[in-house]
Amino acid sequence: MRQKIVAGNWKMNKNLDEAKKLIKQLKKEIKGNVNEDTRVIIAPSFVNLHYAAKKTKKSNIEVAAQNMHQSKSGAFTGEVSADMLTNIGVNIVILGHSERREYFAETDELLAKKVDTALGQGLEVIFCFGELLEDRKSGNHFKIVENQIKKALFHLEKSNYANIVLAYEPVWAIGTGETATPEQAQEIHAFVRELFAKEYGNEVADAISILYGGSVKPANAKEIFSKPDVDGGLIGGAALKAEDFKAIIKSI
Ligand code: PGA
Repeated sequence: MRQKIVAGNWKMNKNLDEAKKLIKQLKKEIKGNVNEDTRVIIAPSFVNLHYAAKKTKKSNIEVAAQNMHQSKSGAFTGEVSADMLTNIGVNIVILGHSERREYFAETDELLAKKVDTALGQGLEVIFCFGELLEDRKSGNHFKIVENQIKKALFHLEKSNYANIVLAYEPVWAIGTGETATPEQAQEIHAFVRELFAKEYGNEVADAISILYGGSVKPANAKEIFSKPDVDGGLIGGAALKAEDFKAIIKSI
């Protein structure tokens, strides 16, 4: 059975004081409110990861990093390695977020390296992909998504997919308040699952979780999550409020 996952991407929000408060609220709100088969993940900024990992250790909340460097170690001022993450108890990393692609020039080729480094260190990867508005308008969204996935992931072995979660995040829906319709999400998710079926067989395709991200909120989560190929969500803005995040988790 595919895992159901709700992950909160905090982006560059919450200083330590604020993170402490939100984690405390989340632990309280989420306790007893989550189905056993649903995983809850939060991704605070690097400086708050150690604290978050320690504080959630005995809870049903898991902690992810929002990025990491592709090299194991070395002279890369300002960067964070995979080993630094696992060493503080962070075993999940988000890679390929559109904001990393757009503002930090992360290419598919670079992401392929990051994925390899993360998996090599035993990290689980939440791999994001998704088209720009102009791609959708021109009808190129299937091709764009296919290329992003092929270039960054299709060199991997079947067995690697036990540690990969996919997240479809149409760029035009991120932080804009505009959500893809449940039908648009389902269409891409089914298309992506079919890509995996062709490349790796049905076993991998059926087992991989595909999350939707882009303006998911309590009011629309249920409808989106009800689609057969949507296995959960990657939540930005609405993950910053414990009540909203809880409501989204409950709607899965
Ligand atoms: P949003 O962000 O929910 O604020 O649109 C989603 C994301 O970027 O992961």
